[in-house]
Amino acid sequence: MPTALCVQCERTFEGAAEGTVCPDDGAYLVDPAVRARHSRDTLLGRLIGDEFAVVDVLGIGGFGTVYRALQIPVMRPVAVKVLHGQFLRSESVRARFFQEARALGMLSGSSVVELIRYGEQAPGTPLPGSPGCLYIAQEFVTGRTLKAIIEQEAPLDPARTVRIATGILEALAEAHGRGVVHRDLKPANVMVSRTALGDERVKVLDFGIAKLLSDPDDSSPQTATDASLGTPAYMAPELLQSKYAGTTADLYALGVILFEMLVGERPFPGTSPVVLVTAHLQQPVPPLPGETARDRALEGVIHRAMAKDIAARYPDAEQMLQALRAALETPALPAPPPAKSRRTHIALAAVIAALGLAAAFVLGQETPPQQPAAKALSTPPAIDAAAPDVTPDVVPIDAALDSAIDAEVDAARRSPPTRPKHRVRRGSGGPTTRSPGWPAGSTGSSPCAAAGPR
Ligand SMILES: Nc1ncnc2c1ncn2[C@@H]1O[C@H](COP(=O)(O)OP(=O)(O)O)[C@@H](O)[C@H]1O
Ligand SMILES: [Mg+2]
Repeated sequence: MPTALCVQCERTFEGAAEGTVCPDDGAYLVDPAVRARHSRDTLLGRLIGDEFAVVDVLGIGGFGTVYRALQIPVMRPVAVKVLHGQFLRSESVRARFFQEARALGMLSGSSVVELIRYGEQAPGTPLPGSPGCLYIAQEFVTGRTLKAIIEQEAPLDPARTVRIATGILEALAEAHGRGVVHRDLKPANVMVSRTALGDERVKVLDFGIAKLLSDPDDSSPQTATDASLGTPAYMAPELLQSKYAGTTADLYALGVILFEMLVGERPFPGTSPVVLVTAHLQQPVPPLPGETARDRALEGVIHRAMAKDIAARYPDAEQMLQALRAALETPALPAPPPAKSRRTHIALAAVIAALGLAAAFVLGQETPPQQPAAKALSTPPAIDAAAPDVTPDVVPIDAALDSAIDAEVDAARRSPPTRPKHRVRRGSGGPTTRSPGWPAGSTGSSPCAAAGPR
């Protein structure tokens, strides 16, 4: 039996649901536990924009608070972002806040959170004592942030990682296509919900410092303010260095997120801005742990997305998506060894195969056809349960040989000292940041301004 509390008169009502109107004073009832958690909040139990009854707090950020509200009278859940009161008189912050609403209003794709309405509510409305506010009402997304998923479940398997990244890329493709650069892409700004059939769906949120490429230039007050905003852990070098933010800065941030999903740590860990800025500007991106060709392919995508040189990155979201899909399809078989030793291995394998054939001939056995021989050599290691099945029949002979040879090399390495199995990073002369825990050896009627669309 639910109990709900009126924030105005403090009465509790047995059996009443949140969002019910208090018969005494017209405030909206909330869960008493929510009230206890946010006892000083001035908007809980109030109506915003004439139709959104505030019932919970979802997040409190530097510039605003995001509430869960119920759209009256249909009681549809919505998320309402409200600018902190102290910024109400700051023209640049107000402009930035509405910029978020404008950016959202330009986007309609299923991977971007939907704008419902935005506007400004005058103080003292709809009830005496209500504070004034600037708000953006958006579709409410049930589920968890990608940040929570990473904290609770990472490392994520490659297939799921690529599915989530695909949703983010869909959002970016739409945003970039309409001239919107997000500029603050990070796991806390991505929600992952589940459809009725259990599939994961991505919604990109928080276009709070988004840049509209159609805007005149970077000298407007609001972009000057924005220059100091963002989250260094996910910021591309050019964003950290200057105000310039092209669409590839978002792809760079996705490279960081991909790494974090697959590893459980960011490529450049830590929170010190100085350390992070230095790392993004100067340090090579570390390798992904794992030994398979698919690990190397995914690593290649991350490294290109996170190239320090903008020109070396994927030019757009579509091309990054193609590369990501191709990487996922790369068999999860051991990666080929470096060219020289590979030649030696192949020669060795040819000798072994010839000896095998000769022995079979001498023993009068039927000569085995080549493909089954390859099959016997090619049993792939069970690396990732979620990876697509690799049918031995379609394993290329090269990979089969590599697999067998690697097994031999592994056996030879079993006696100490062991050499790290990871090869030297391509072109990375500088220090690499290693994540702890990686595998050893792997490297009412209100005068509210109807400013927004309905
Ligand atoms: N539409 C939404 N549906 C559900 N939760 C949301 C929604 N928008 C924001 N949130 C929650 O509020 C948090 C902060 O929202 P965000 O838009 O990122 O604001 P901020 O500017 O404070 O970072 C998010 O991390 C998420 O947990
Ligand atoms: Mg945010």
